Amino acid sequence: MDFKRSDFPEGFTFGAATAAYQIEGHKFGGAGSTHWDTFAATPGNVVRAEDGALACDHYHRYPEDLDLLKDAGLDAYRFSTSWARVMPDGRTPNAEGLDFYDRLVDAMLERGLKPFQTLYHWELPSTLADKGGWANRDTCEFFGDFTDVITDKIGDRVAAIATINEPWCVAFVSHFLGHHAPGLRDLRATARAMHHIMLAHGTALERLRAKGMQNCGIVLNFDHTTPADDTPEAAAAANLQDAIFNRWFIEAATKGTYPKEVLAGFEPHMPTGWQDDMELISQPMDWLGVNYYTRHRVLHDPDSAWPHLTSVEGDLPTTQMGWEIYPDGLHHFLTRLSRDYVGDLPLYVTENGMAWDDTVENGAVYDPERTSFVSDHMLATKRAIADGANVQGFFYWSLLDNYEWAFGYEKRFGIVHVDFETLKRTPKASYHALKAAIAR
Ligand code: FCB
Repeated sequence: MDFKRSDFPEGFTFGAATAAYQIEGHKFGGAGSTHWDTFAATPGNVVRAEDGALACDHYHRYPEDLDLLKDAGLDAYRFSTSWARVMPDGRTPNAEGLDFYDRLVDAMLERGLKPFQTLYHWELPSTLADKGGWANRDTCEFFGDFTDVITDKIGDRVAAIATINEPWCVAFVSHFLGHHAPGLRDLRATARAMHHIMLAHGTALERLRAKGMQNCGIVLNFDHTTPADDTPEAAAAANLQDAIFNRWFIEAATKGTYPKEVLAGFEPHMPTGWQDDMELISQPMDWLGVNYYTRHRVLHDPDSAWPHLTSVEGDLPTTQMGWEIYPDGLHHFLTRLSRDYVGDLPLYVTENGMAWDDTVENGAVYDPERTSFVSDHMLATKRAIADGANVQGFFYWSLLDNYEWAFGYEKRFGIVHVDFETLKRTPKASYHALKAAIAR
């Protein structure tokens, strides 16, 4: 790596991230069915119809996984608490599930790891999906109740809490593009989910504050958008894409407004009286999580329906996901977010990483591509700090190779390789490189 811990401000947090459904093994511990289970069970949605039933069996192997974090010299662990594990029907607490997170958090603290919790990383209980999921306003109150229950159990020991992971994926990818559960392609459901997921954020934040919780934030994902040619139509298309993907959520959370060019497409499908929710949605936060992976080049497509957009293949090197590698985009968002939205509020890079077709050879995984990727994005972060962004930490996605949603177990993001036959963990060369870079 071309950076070291001392290049970053004192107290900068280095961590790695995972999410419950992607690693735990959802068949254990009395967890309820989620919309991901049924989405995956429907032909054509997920590679080989794979699901998170076993995943990395982190439910049983968490001590080994936390040892890996500690042995790497990482300071913090970003994990999520599955709603369907804590409340299998979305409403009734499951003592076994609560006890699991209780043990997990204690095990982090025993190892000196700071627990960074995410409340919702996509495990919507099927019973709530049956009632319309995020298109239904009631889901927001139920999410508030879940927030209360899990916070009463572990809130005394977590270092930071994020309400929602990637509202864009929860709402747009899942209800408009149909690539994630519940797999809808419906403008009305999208408009509602785009609003309700932010209302869920506001509702959870209010519940957390009522319990005196500090260090509360949200994790948003950002995608660098560039016009694919120099026509005014392409510029307008890039602006609209940026508004849907990048501005909708941050504007709501920090200013209490939605971009008007997106509202133009969503009207008349927005839930009645949505304006009255904006104060709750934009209440103050303590930090903002930034997930960043890639960029997209877009064009105006007059033949398709609103938002009349199409993506064009880029010319940069890509990862196993086919995502272009563009570290400058991370610098762009960190500086832009500070300048235009959050000022001095602490920023954390809560996800950044790459998938590669890694294989174990003679007991080791050689992944120089990932080492360069991390190095280049850390240097972009360092430049953003020099340019005034208050970035306080960086979490690599992901600790482990895991269930990559619609791509099943095919895409490997981990700094630790997982053999999905034996579940054996093998730290990759990038793990060792990161460890050396952040050694004290
Ligand atoms: C993000 C998700 C995370 C993982 C990475 C690759 O969108 O938050 O769960 O799938 O992408």
